[in-house]
Amino acid sequence: MSLLKKILITGGAGFIGSHVVRLFVNKYPDCEIVNLDKLTYAGNLENLRDIENKQNYRFIKGDIVDTPAMLKLFSEEKFDGVVHLAAESHVDRSLENPNEFVMTNIIGTVNLLQAALKTWGADSSKRFYHISTDEVYGSAEGSDLFTEQTAIDPQSPYSSSKAGSDHFVKAFYNSFNLPILISRCSNNYGPNHFPEKLIPLMINNLLESKPLPVYGKGENVRDWLYVADHARAIDIIFHKGKTGEVYNVGGNNEWRNIDLVNLLCRVMDKKLQRPEGASAKLITYVKDRPGHDLRYAVDSSKLQNDLGWAPSVTLEIGLEKTVDWYLNNKEWLSRVTSGQYRAYYTQMYEKR
Ligand code: NAD
Ligand code: TYD
Repeated sequence: MSLLKKILITGGAGFIGSHVVRLFVNKYPDCEIVNLDKLTYAGNLENLRDIENKQNYRFIKGDIVDTPAMLKLFSEEKFDGVVHLAAESHVDRSLENPNEFVMTNIIGTVNLLQAALKTWGADSSKRFYHISTDEVYGSAEGSDLFTEQTAIDPQSPYSSSKAGSDHFVKAFYNSFNLPILISRCSNNYGPNHFPEKLIPLMINNLLESKPLPVYGKGENVRDWLYVADHARAIDIIFHKGKTGEVYNVGGNNEWRNIDLVNLLCRVMDKKLQRPEGASAKLITYVKDRPGHDLRYAVDSSKLQNDLGWAPSVTLEIGLEKTVDWYLNNKEWLSRVTSGQYRAYYTQMYEKR
């Protein structure tokens, strides 16, 4: 397909979004990349400092829930494509405040779909690409892997809101021929990850010698993908994927939480020159997350076979790179963990 010249990336100041924005800005100098982000607690323009002055990059602060603002933005800017990542993304927060997830993840996505439809109609040269999650499939049974045919069966408020948005994206394809794509990815990790998710939270606590809260027995399994590999998959799917299709993205890296935390402890002992076993002593089993999905595991053979993508690193290698990034960016960590974050987490810990 011909190169889409003007691309809107939503949620580009967040964890995955910032890696996608950087990749697109550097790889496609002839394309204009517009980053729309509300800058919630999870959005941080510091993540994009290295590319913020590039000619082909522009940031707009905006809220996808604001219907008139989205209609105006699309009619004025005349985007050729949308990569939609903006979302509330943390399961624990969704258990506390599901309404926020309905607003951003469902209403916000429908607003973008409506705005795209109003400006594009069924123009098949355009692309609306929705970034979703493997969590919409619910918990994987036995040794099964999620395929694109696996029934949607979300269990948490977060995954329910993402499943809702997936259905709307599909509905706009079925009902109006809006040229859409959807991908469903497994758990990401890497630089710029907000320290509320498992890996960066554990790194942050290890640096501060605080307890490492493992939910339940630590037996839940996640399939981990290095964030740069996800950004590469997003680029490939956006430019080469077939409209109307769903693509799973996974790392082939299934780990039980407790094994992952133990590996991280060994890496941190080595990096911080602590005696072997010192970090693991901080592991503390805490009350389980309500409705905690036991296992996520993704079959991404469609993406691998049809579009030629493959993950580039194992968890062991990706984790070393991630730890190195956090050790070299302690100021980033202390800035994002000040203020609101501290207040929220103090409250969460007190509840346990
Ligand atoms: P994140 O929480 O780090 O970033 C979300 C970004 O969206 C932030 O910059 C935030 O400011 C912005 N945002 C939130 N509400 C907004 C609104 N109403 N209007 C405009 N911007 C808003 O999330 P992430 O981990 O980078 O995830 C990005 C996307 O990828 C999400 O759609 C998520 O569901 C999906 N995903 C994430 C993972 C993962 O492991 N992190 C895995 C699969 C899929
Ligand atoms: P998380 O990073 O929140 O991602 P998700 O719930 O979307 O998969 O959690 C990953 C796994 O780690 C999940 O099984 C819950 C568990 N977990 C802990 O054991 N302790 C923690 O402090 C956190 C944040 C997560």
